[in-house]
Amino acid sequence: AIQRTFSIIKPDATKRNLTGKIISKFEDAGLRVIASRRIQMTREQAEGFYAVHKERPFFGELVDFMISGPVVIQVLEGEDAIAKNREVMGATNPENADAGTIRKEFALSVGENSVHGSDAPETAAEEIKFFFKDEEIVG
Ligand code: CMP
Repeated sequence: AIQRTFSIIKPDATKRNLTGKIISKFEDAGLRVIASRRIQMTREQAEGFYAVHKERPFFGELVDFMISGPVVIQVLEGEDAIAKNREVMGATNPENADAGTIRKEFALSVGENSVHGSDAPETAAEEIKFFFKDEEIVG
Protein backbone atom coordinates (compact mmCIF):
# COMPACT_ATOMS: atom_id res chain seq x y z
CA ALA A 1 0.00 0.00 0.00
CA ILE A 2 1.03 3.62 -0.46
CA GLN A 3 2.37 4.92 2.85
CA ARG A 4 3.94 8.05 4.27
CA THR A 5 6.99 8.09 6.52
CA PHE A 6 8.96 10.73 8.36
CA SER A 7 12.65 11.34 7.67
CA ILE A 8 15.36 13.50 9.23
CA ILE A 9 18.68 14.25 7.54
CA LYS A 10 20.83 14.71 10.64
CA PRO A 11 23.45 17.39 11.48
CA ASP A 12 26.45 15.18 10.58
CA ALA A 13 25.07 14.94 7.03
CA THR A 14 23.97 18.57 6.56
CA LYS A 15 27.42 19.70 7.80
CA ARG A 16 29.14 17.56 5.17
CA ASN A 17 26.83 18.88 2.39
CA LEU A 18 25.25 15.44 1.77
CA THR A 19 21.60 16.53 1.62
CA GLY A 20 21.22 16.06 -2.14
CA LYS A 21 23.04 12.74 -2.24
CA ILE A 22 20.77 11.39 0.51
CA ILE A 23 17.58 12.65 -1.14
CA SER A 24 18.72 11.00 -4.41
CA LYS A 25 18.87 7.65 -2.58
CA PHE A 26 15.26 8.12 -1.48
CA GLU A 27 14.11 9.11 -4.97
CA ASP A 28 16.05 6.29 -6.66
CA ALA A 29 14.17 3.86 -4.37
CA GLY A 30 10.81 5.24 -5.51
CA LEU A 31 10.14 7.48 -2.51
CA ARG A 32 8.75 10.96 -3.23
CA VAL A 33 9.50 14.02 -1.08
CA ILE A 34 6.03 15.49 -0.40
CA ALA A 35 7.09 17.88 2.39
CA SER A 36 10.49 19.30 3.31
CA ARG A 37 11.92 21.94 5.64
CA ARG A 38 15.42 22.77 6.84
CA ILE A 39 15.38 23.70 10.53
CA GLN A 40 17.55 24.21 13.56
CA MET A 41 15.82 22.01 16.15
CA THR A 42 15.39 23.46 19.61
CA ARG A 43 16.32 21.39 22.64
CA GLU A 44 12.61 21.19 23.54
CA GLN A 45 11.75 19.82 20.08
CA ALA A 46 14.56 17.25 20.17
CA GLU A 47 13.60 16.11 23.69
CA GLY A 48 9.94 15.87 22.69
CA PHE A 49 10.62 14.07 19.44
CA TYR A 50 12.87 11.48 21.12
CA ALA A 51 10.83 11.26 24.36
CA VAL A 52 10.50 7.48 23.90
CA HIS A 53 14.29 7.22 24.42
CA LYS A 54 14.48 9.46 27.51
CA GLU A 55 15.52 6.65 29.87
CA ARG A 56 18.30 5.45 27.56
CA PRO A 57 21.90 6.16 28.57
CA PHE A 58 22.56 7.93 25.26
CA PHE A 59 19.55 10.30 25.47
CA GLY A 60 21.56 13.39 26.46
CA GLU A 61 24.14 12.75 23.77
CA LEU A 62 21.38 12.15 21.20
CA VAL A 63 19.63 15.45 22.00
CA ASP A 64 22.92 17.42 22.02
CA PHE A 65 23.81 15.96 18.63
CA MET A 66 20.40 16.63 17.06
CA ILE A 67 20.63 20.33 17.98
CA SER A 68 24.31 20.68 16.98
CA GLY A 69 23.42 21.93 13.49
CA PRO A 70 20.69 22.14 10.88
CA VAL A 71 18.53 19.16 9.99
CA VAL A 72 16.25 18.54 7.01
CA ILE A 73 12.88 17.11 8.00
CA GLN A 74 10.80 15.45 5.28
CA VAL A 75 7.72 13.41 4.57
CA LEU A 76 8.39 10.62 2.08
CA GLU A 77 5.58 8.86 0.23
CA GLY A 78 5.54 5.65 -1.76
CA GLU A 79 4.70 1.96 -1.90
CA ASP A 80 5.60 0.47 1.53
CA ALA A 81 7.40 3.73 2.30
CA ILE A 82 8.22 2.86 5.93
CA ALA A 83 10.02 -0.41 5.13
CA LYS A 84 11.53 0.97 1.93
CA ASN A 85 13.00 3.96 3.76
CA ARG A 86 14.48 1.66 6.41
CA GLU A 87 16.02 -0.46 3.66
CA VAL A 88 17.58 2.56 1.98
CA MET A 89 18.89 3.89 5.34
CA GLY A 90 20.48 0.57 6.38
CA ALA A 91 21.12 -0.61 9.95
CA THR A 92 21.22 1.99 12.77
CA ASN A 93 24.90 1.20 13.39
CA PRO A 94 26.79 1.84 10.13
CA GLU A 95 29.09 -1.09 10.97
CA ASN A 96 26.10 -3.38 10.42
CA ALA A 97 24.65 -1.57 7.38
CA ASP A 98 24.52 -3.25 3.97
CA ALA A 99 26.53 -1.95 1.01
CA GLY A 100 24.81 0.82 -0.91
CA THR A 101 22.74 2.05 2.04
CA ILE A 102 22.86 5.66 3.25
CA ARG A 103 24.36 4.71 6.60
CA LYS A 104 27.00 2.43 5.05
CA GLU A 105 28.08 5.16 2.65
CA PHE A 106 27.77 8.25 4.84
CA ALA A 107 27.26 7.55 8.57
CA LEU A 108 30.12 8.18 10.99
CA SER A 109 28.91 6.19 14.02
CA VAL A 110 25.75 4.82 15.68
CA GLY A 111 25.01 8.33 16.99
CA GLU A 112 26.13 10.36 13.97
CA ASN A 113 24.25 8.10 11.60
CA SER A 114 23.10 10.68 9.00
CA VAL A 115 19.37 9.85 8.91
CA HIS A 116 16.34 9.01 11.01
CA GLY A 117 13.28 7.19 9.67
CA SER A 118 10.00 6.14 11.29
CA ASP A 119 9.83 2.49 12.37
CA ALA A 120 6.08 1.77 12.09
CA PRO A 121 2.84 3.30 10.73
CA GLU A 122 1.75 4.67 14.14
CA THR A 123 5.11 6.35 14.81
CA ALA A 124 5.22 7.68 11.23
CA ALA A 125 1.85 9.40 11.74
CA GLU A 126 2.94 10.83 15.12
CA GLU A 127 6.32 12.01 13.85
CA ILE A 128 4.82 13.68 10.75
CA LYS A 129 2.31 15.48 12.98
CA PHE A 130 5.04 16.57 15.38
CA PHE A 131 6.69 18.71 12.68
CA PHE A 132 4.25 19.32 9.80
CA LYS A 133 0.83 20.88 9.37
CA ASP A 134 -1.51 19.19 6.89
CA GLU A 135 -1.24 22.07 4.43
CA GLU A 136 2.56 21.76 4.32
CA ILE A 137 2.28 18.24 2.90
CA VAL A 138 1.55 18.21 -0.82
CA GLY A 139 1.23 14.69 -2.21
P1 CMP B 1 17.25 7.29 15.32
O1 CMP B 1 16.58 6.45 14.28
O2 CMP B 1 17.30 8.73 15.07
O3 CMP B 1 16.56 7.03 16.71
C1 CMP B 1 17.25 7.05 17.95
C2 CMP B 1 18.69 7.30 17.77
O4 CMP B 1 19.49 7.04 18.87
C3 CMP B 1 19.24 6.37 16.70
O5 CMP B 1 18.77 6.79 15.44
C4 CMP B 1 20.74 6.48 16.93
O6 CMP B 1 21.34 7.48 16.12
C5 CMP B 1 20.81 6.91 18.37
N1 CMP B 1 21.52 5.89 19.12
C6 CMP B 1 21.19 4.59 19.24
N2 CMP B 1 22.11 3.96 20.01
C7 CMP B 1 23.02 4.90 20.37
C8 CMP B 1 24.19 4.87 21.15
N3 CMP B 1 24.62 3.73 21.71
N4 CMP B 1 24.86 6.03 21.30
C9 CMP B 1 24.42 7.18 20.75
N5 CMP B 1 23.30 7.26 19.99
C10 CMP B 1 22.62 6.13 19.80
